[in-house]
Amino acid sequence: MDKLLINGGRRLEGSLRVSGAKNAALPILAATLLTGETVTVANAPHLNDVTTMVKLLGRLGADVAVGESPQVTVTAADLRSLKAPYELVKTMRASFLVMGPLLARFGEAEVSLPGGCAIGARPVDLHLKGFAALGADIQVADGYVQAKAPRGLKGARIKLDLATVGGTENLMMAATLAEGETIIDGAAREPEIVDLGNCLNAMGARVSGHGTARLRIVGVPALHGAKHAVMADRVEAGTYLIAAAATRGRVRLRDIDPGALSAVLERLQAAGAEIEAGADWIALNMPGRPGAVDIETRPYPGFPTDMQAQFMAMNAVAEGSCRITETIFENRFMHAQEINRLGADIRLLGPSQALVNGVESLKAARVMATDLRASFSLVVAGLVAEGETLIDRIYHIDRGYEMIEEKLSALGADVQRVS
Ligand code: EPZ
Repeated sequence: MDKLLINGGRRLEGSLRVSGAKNAALPILAATLLTGETVTVANAPHLNDVTTMVKLLGRLGADVAVGESPQVTVTAADLRSLKAPYELVKTMRASFLVMGPLLARFGEAEVSLPGGCAIGARPVDLHLKGFAALGADIQVADGYVQAKAPRGLKGARIKLDLATVGGTENLMMAATLAEGETIIDGAAREPEIVDLGNCLNAMGARVSGHGTARLRIVGVPALHGAKHAVMADRVEAGTYLIAAAATRGRVRLRDIDPGALSAVLERLQAAGAEIEAGADWIALNMPGRPGAVDIETRPYPGFPTDMQAQFMAMNAVAEGSCRITETIFENRFMHAQEINRLGADIRLLGPSQALVNGVESLKAARVMATDLRASFSLVVAGLVAEGETLIDRIYHIDRGYEMIEEKLSALGADVQRVS
């Protein structure tokens, strides 16, 4: 099993291009099932999660070609199966996003329940309630959700009790081919949802309000082929900015809209970082030891849960103490005890709050990655720590960070993959 060996204690310095966003590419790839015509997804990151989605589309019978640049071309003309099997859904929860498109276009879908995961229970009840509101008959049996709408879906008013990202995406995709108008209130507002909405509209859908809490979708009889370039990955960008800040470094990121990162940039500035930004770039300089800053995760535009772990690692070496509050997932502090193995002083005050007492320096140790973002928090800690930190189970990182060794090395880090 691959491991990452980091010889820490160097400042990150240099410039990077931000990759395409995993969390936009996955729903957009699922959306290609909404038409029999060819959809070209450009700027798709080369990541294990994207490969899993490509495999799933292939398993359903779509014709998928992964080309240079990186670009994925999907033609879902004749599908041989409408079933997303357990083996694929269990490795990646986002596989559940094929349900909306399959149900909308074929009137039927069978998708394995994703089950729990390392960061919490993560049910799909709101997706199912929404499909039922659109007129689908939903049955759960033997770990699978079976959805049927033999006469097609019908537009409806849906109120989401919680701003679920995946739920909003699944229902938005389903509603594009429903008869009549669908209003989704309480919708998630993440930039990835805006990107998906733009892609659906390029395919002929009539989606409006994406990026606000009220989505309006007017159903159309069919969608058509299109070419869409996936937005830049704000989580990858934020992660490298935090890593640079933790090492008192200086980085410049290209091809990224700073607007998508406002909450993170604000917290980095509060920690003492100097930030400059243009239309599609962000530069950060951390002139000295970061100051500890509280964070509380919130749905967009609040501070993203996907950057909580990395920020905790930076706070671990900051001057002062702070509290980190996680409000989105109930079990997303697994990294705390691993960062403590490097000499940090992080105490869990309960399932959703941690107290971080900043220490002057960290010392290398062997640690283990538990989930995607938690893994990168260990990278941040390893970059700061004196000596050689060995991070085990880095397959988690490969799910969501493209070319991590290359990118870190380009910034001057001493990092290598070992087996
Ligand atoms: C998306 O997950 C992201 N994944 C996650 O990124 C991200 O952490 C999360 O949104 C929150 O921003 C993708 O986009 C592929 P949710 P998703 O539905 O859609 C509860 C990463 O590291 N909930 O917004 O699964 C749920 O349990 C990943 O890249 C219900 O109760 O998240 C959670 O507590 C990890 N019922 C909260 O809502 C439902 O039906 C938010 O989940 C659905 C969700």
